[in-house]
Amino acid sequence: MLIGFYDILSLMASSRITDSKKEEIRDAADIVDVVSDYVKLKKAGGGFTGLCPFHNEKSPSFHVTPRLGIFKCFGCGEGGDVFNFVMKMEGVGFVEAMRTVAERYNIELPKEEQDDEFDERTQLTEGIYHALRFAGQFYHEQLNAEDEAAEARNYLGKRGLKTKTIRKWGLGFAHDRMDHLYTSAIEQGINETYLFEAGLIKYSENSQKPYDYFRGRLMFPIFNPSGKVIGFGGRIMEGLKGPKYLNSPQTKVYNKSEVMYGIHLARNEIRKHDQSILVEGYMDVISLWQSGILNVVATSGTSVTPDQMRRLRNYSQNMLMVYDADNAGQNAMIRGLDVALQADMHVRLMHLPEGEDPDSFVQQFGADSFIEYTEKESKDFISFMIAHAEESGDWEDPMSRKNVVSRILSSIARVKDAVLRETLVDHLRRLSGVGERSLLGELSAHIQEQTRELERSRQREYRQQNRESQQTSDGNEEPPFPGDATKPQKSVQPAPSRLARTKKSPAEKEIIRLMIEHGDEMIYYVGQIITHDYFEDEGLRMFYNDIIQRYNDELPISIAEYTAQDPPFPELTGEIFIEQHSISEKGNERRTTRITRDADPFATARGALKAITRLYYTRRSDEIKRLIETSDDAQRRQLYSELMKITKDKMMLERTSADELFPSLEDLIKNEA
Ligand code: GTP
Ligand code: MN
Repeated sequence: MLIGFYDILSLMASSRITDSKKEEIRDAADIVDVVSDYVKLKKAGGGFTGLCPFHNEKSPSFHVTPRLGIFKCFGCGEGGDVFNFVMKMEGVGFVEAMRTVAERYNIELPKEEQDDEFDERTQLTEGIYHALRFAGQFYHEQLNAEDEAAEARNYLGKRGLKTKTIRKWGLGFAHDRMDHLYTSAIEQGINETYLFEAGLIKYSENSQKPYDYFRGRLMFPIFNPSGKVIGFGGRIMEGLKGPKYLNSPQTKVYNKSEVMYGIHLARNEIRKHDQSILVEGYMDVISLWQSGILNVVATSGTSVTPDQMRRLRNYSQNMLMVYDADNAGQNAMIRGLDVALQADMHVRLMHLPEGEDPDSFVQQFGADSFIEYTEKESKDFISFMIAHAEESGDWEDPMSRKNVVSRILSSIARVKDAVLRETLVDHLRRLSGVGERSLLGELSAHIQEQTRELERSRQREYRQQNRESQQTSDGNEEPPFPGDATKPQKSVQPAPSRLARTKKSPAEKEIIRLMIEHGDEMIYYVGQIITHDYFEDEGLRMFYNDIIQRYNDELPISIAEYTAQDPPFPELTGEIFIEQHSISEKGNERRTTRITRDADPFATARGALKAITRLYYTRRSDEIKRLIETSDDAQRRQLYSELMKITKDKMMLERTSADELFPSLEDLIKNEA
């Protein structure tokens, strides 16, 4: 019997989770399998190693020991069993982690146990997952139960989807009603905040009334690798107006630039075949899956991104791209190719017969024909581009042939592996007849141009972020609230509890800049005064940790070094060094000049350290005040005393100049001795 996705969820409703159940799940789970969703593991002795997902590193210090069922990172110290891994990775509490693992290995589990040890962040994440799970089930039930959904059911039938496929992929239907999901969810006791944070409802700008994000759409739930619903894609029903596909907005659990649609069902198959097939659409993934071709994924509502490629590479480095055989599809494929090459993927490309997409092809001709076609027609990207040029006549004409060769070289330039790059140039030389020297000359011009372009785009991104930082919207396609369009647009009230993108504090950036620019003494100095807790921005905190780590390991620290590292370091470095500002002693006012700023870099540092410390005190005292509300008497007393101390320190800080507040470097060194 084939079990549908939502059956597994309802199977889990029974009694309490016992220790023996916990053991059973732990035994059934393969920690290597679970970790491999996020880390590319290599066999090493009796275990496996890889790059730690919890901190940024260049050489692997992350170890998995399947015999003991544990992981450990010797770089950052994270470690534990399979449940700890899922907790850390997905930001959930213990019970939810256990449920995730149980689901994955089809183990029945009692339901809805409250986890009492989790903090606010974890609670929000779990609330979001809960709301999404409810919505998935709700849309799925709507599709099956309601008379009004007959049209949607007929449509899916017409598109050739079988009942078992619809169940397996948890497909659903959102009626074209204002707040159908909203009211049903509230009736079921689901917290409105979670619905909003899950991207399932929005607020009308004028009346602040909640309404459903998805209306009149066929619903495709989007799953993370371990099979949790993290978002939706909704296809508009025939006859309704709006974008053809609407995807969930960016949320705490749904990041479009990382998500691969179908990965939960494809990941093991991709490993098995040592190849993934990347297609454009949700329907392509599902149709191929239904026909028995299982190693298939799609991007969800974006073009190919570096993060998606990095994720996919965990399962296999080889990828076959099969996009729609129209101009838009082919162009998107070539753009995606460059991103994939840059992420170290080995890519083959395929062109379907004119007018087809993978869905239409496999529905008409079946899986065997598709596979046969793949074996005959798929090509390495150089041969593919030349074949494409031959078809269009561009290979005949010497001038346009030159352009094609140049275009191919610009793709080869993305490949980081020098040996592979040379092999590819040699391949191109044989196919094009152009001499090696000319090819290599132009290749290096492309590499230079791409490096410059990267720098320019970093600057653009930085300026854009600055412009956006005042706005709350992230530029998602949003369905308009009917009625709003006709009313005059008044000043926009932000909806409650919207997660504003935090803006990096200039003082935090300043400190990182000083550490990189002034080297060992400055790093030592800053490291003596603050800890990583003082950084509010997660990226900069990670950056700080990395600098300290490199300092301890006596590794080089410089702009060039960080620009050459993996993301997010190059972006962060750009952001830190492009900014033209300085921290005044009073706080974080901006100045527009760099001149004289670093006449005494340690004085500059003290100014920034004071600003950071002030912000840290404020955050910490807010946090304590919140904790006080929910703690018992004994804890409360302790919290009050900490609050008093911080309040005193803060007053002291305001009264003292930065130079008096912090010791000089010389004093610090003297004290140490
Ligand atoms: P069908 O027409 O139902 O067969 O869908 P399809 O998957 O073949 O769609 P199409 O080839 O038009 O588009 C391929 C993919 O691009 C879709 O699956 C979506 O992920 C995306 N896409 C297409 N149209 C839109 C749109 O209007 N908005 C967004 N965000 N994505 C779209
Ligand atoms: Mn298509």
